[in-house]
Amino acid sequence: MHKLDPEKLPKHLAIIMDGNGRWAQERMLKRIVGHRKGVETVRTIVEESSLLGIKFLTLFAFSSENWLRPKTEVRSLMALLKAYLAKETSRLMTNNIRFAVIGDRSDLPEDVDRAVADAIEKTSRNTGMVLTLALSYGSRQEITNAVSRLADDLLSGQLSREEISEERISSYLYTSDIPEPDFLIRTSGEMRISNFLLWQIAYTELYFTEVNWPDFNKQEFYRALANYQARERRYGQISDQVRKRR
Ligand code: FPP
Repeated sequence: MHKLDPEKLPKHLAIIMDGNGRWAQERMLKRIVGHRKGVETVRTIVEESSLLGIKFLTLFAFSSENWLRPKTEVRSLMALLKAYLAKETSRLMTNNIRFAVIGDRSDLPEDVDRAVADAIEKTSRNTGMVLTLALSYGSRQEITNAVSRLADDLLSGQLSREEISEERISSYLYTSDIPEPDFLIRTSGEMRISNFLLWQIAYTELYFTEVNWPDFNKQEFYRALANYQARERRYGQISDQVRKRR
């Protein structure tokens, strides 16, 4: 297992969990079996992140485009999600984790949305890691929604043109109360962002691994974090400037 420096962990870690379907198909199993196995990985990574002291963990669980998958798969994913929330809330409580959601919740089936609301409410006073699930989430949809509300505020006079800044725009996004991700992991070998947190990842370090999500275990997780710790983040400056700032 890679050794990690507890001082240099990402404050906000975002993950695109990919490859459940391929994991299953490679084993001649149904895709849903891969998703089920993927939930076990979610459990491991949530718990491990919280133990390590990561403050914000954001998981891409269901994109706004995923609604186009076959109905049976969408239904199974929603059922898994609901079961996860029902079962895991007590574990989130034990680990002092606060649960949050980004995305268009109005798209969710009513029972799933109720389970989401319940988990948010039950964990709302927890002070440890914030676990955010992106559900029915699409970054362009998020930005469009932000621009539309910003325009409303401009037109109603609540906001003036001079007040438009990067910070102001960020405040209209779903992620207004969480910092930008320091590190983004995508599993299963795809080198894409797939409409995830486009505005927020401007300076995020990216990491791609061939490992499918169901096989992304503690050892792979530590490997990814060790890789992050070996990097130098320059934010457009040169090495000497960054070293002086530290
Ligand atoms: C990608 O695999 C994964 C998803 C579309 C959903 C991720 C969902 C889970 C891990 C389970 C439910 C989540 C929670 C938090 C309970 P894919 O189907 O795109 O894989 P493929 O690219 O190999 O087909």
